[in-house]
Amino acid sequence: MSQIKNYIEKNKQRFLDELFGLIRIPSISSQSEHRPDMLKAAEYWKKTVLDAGADRVEIFETKGNPVVYGEKIIDPSLPVILVYGHYDVMPVDPLEQWLSSPFEPEIRDGKIYARGADDDKGQSFIHAKAFELMVKTGTLPCNVKFMIEGEEEIGSGSLKIWCEENKDLLKSDVIIVSDTGMIAENVPSITTGLRGISCLEVEVSGPSHDLHSGIYGGAVANPVNILCKMIASLHDESGRVKVKGFYDDVETVSNEERRELAKAPFSLEEYRKSIKVNEVWGETGYTTTERTGIRPALDVNGIWGGYTGEGSKTIIPAKAYAKISMRLVPNQDYKKIAELFKSHFESLAPAYVTVKVTPLHGGQGYVSPIDSPEYKAAHRAITESFGAAPVPVRTGGSIPIISAFEQILGVKSILMGFGLESDAIHSPNENFPLINFYRGIETVPLFYKYYVEEYSKRL
Ligand code: BES
Ligand code: MN
Ligand code: MN
Repeated sequence: MSQIKNYIEKNKQRFLDELFGLIRIPSISSQSEHRPDMLKAAEYWKKTVLDAGADRVEIFETKGNPVVYGEKIIDPSLPVILVYGHYDVMPVDPLEQWLSSPFEPEIRDGKIYARGADDDKGQSFIHAKAFELMVKTGTLPCNVKFMIEGEEEIGSGSLKIWCEENKDLLKSDVIIVSDTGMIAENVPSITTGLRGISCLEVEVSGPSHDLHSGIYGGAVANPVNILCKMIASLHDESGRVKVKGFYDDVETVSNEERRELAKAPFSLEEYRKSIKVNEVWGETGYTTTERTGIRPALDVNGIWGGYTGEGSKTIIPAKAYAKISMRLVPNQDYKKIAELFKSHFESLAPAYVTVKVTPLHGGQGYVSPIDSPEYKAAHRAITESFGAAPVPVRTGGSIPIISAFEQILGVKSILMGFGLESDAIHSPNENFPLINFYRGIETVPLFYKYYVEEYSKRL
């Protein structure tokens, strides 16, 4: 057995126990009552990276949640790999749909079930344990830096500022990130594109207070009805977004590249089955993978207003609200899109109501080449550990800080994710197969080894 597999085999249970310790901290970044948990998760990471063998680890305070920074510099003439991950997680509602408690990890059918099991505690912990493995077996081939944040799920606002203030500290040759997925266990892939995102909240106000729907019904406009109508008008019959100027900066992808992207294996039938829908929907003229990979989208993430409790309450609500996110492709600017949405949505408002649009956060999309030393290294590493060559894919998800890394630090990221679509991230019963966790730990040291090789080829 190889030295890598041997070390993993011997430490399997401990790796899992340590990951469970991190998962048990309910570090939900969007809910302020969890602020103390953010600090606990940062402390947990500090100990993890120190125990693994870092020379120094520090927790940096920010205006928001702290950033954990660690490093091991073995030889300044060797390349530096910077590991990025996030310790914050999404909220857990609807709680009643979980089969086990979200913050008490449970193993069922070879999978870890918990919030953060994949996104991103399970995936980022792979790097901590792989680093430990390389240090303890004396096989670390280059310098390593860790940067673990607690605001990814809310837009990474503090990390962006922290990066600007710590450019020297963060000097590196490549950033490695495991916070995306692969097509399947037997069809590994490397993510070469992320969509940008622009998140907003809208508020539609009608009468000054909730009204009796009998006394006033039919004579005063209902903000919930109006909001629904406005939202319904945001797409046309062919599934295109009707916000004025929305597609202006969208780059057309050449037919040649579309043919390349279409080579990634995909079964529409399995896709439909996995989410139990009878038919897919989307922009006419594009396949399902293109709709998420190379085209932008607009979705309502939540809508509320009026009475939603038990039984009925006959009112015309005074207000209605919705949270909206737009997924963007590279070259679309998230601030510009937020502005376009704001003016478009405000222009839709009839005189019966007033409309307020509040941009929340966002980030730019990202694309990476497939001829870089890091892509080649990831390709070689995955081929060896998974026994199949990975295919490049553009995902529909977003990690807003990745494009900021390129802008601020001038460093490219390699998105070597080990998640699966069935991991149900952001959903009830999020899970992460044990095999992906351990295979990830096996793959990362190979990546380091091949990265140093590919890097020196370039010199
Ligand atoms: N890890 C995900 C992003 C992801 C998952 C990309 C799977 C590709 C495949 C990340 O934690 C995430 O959820 N990002 C948010 C960003 C937003 C809240 C600003 C997203 O995409 O919704
Ligand atoms: Mn994530
Ligand atoms: Mn996420």
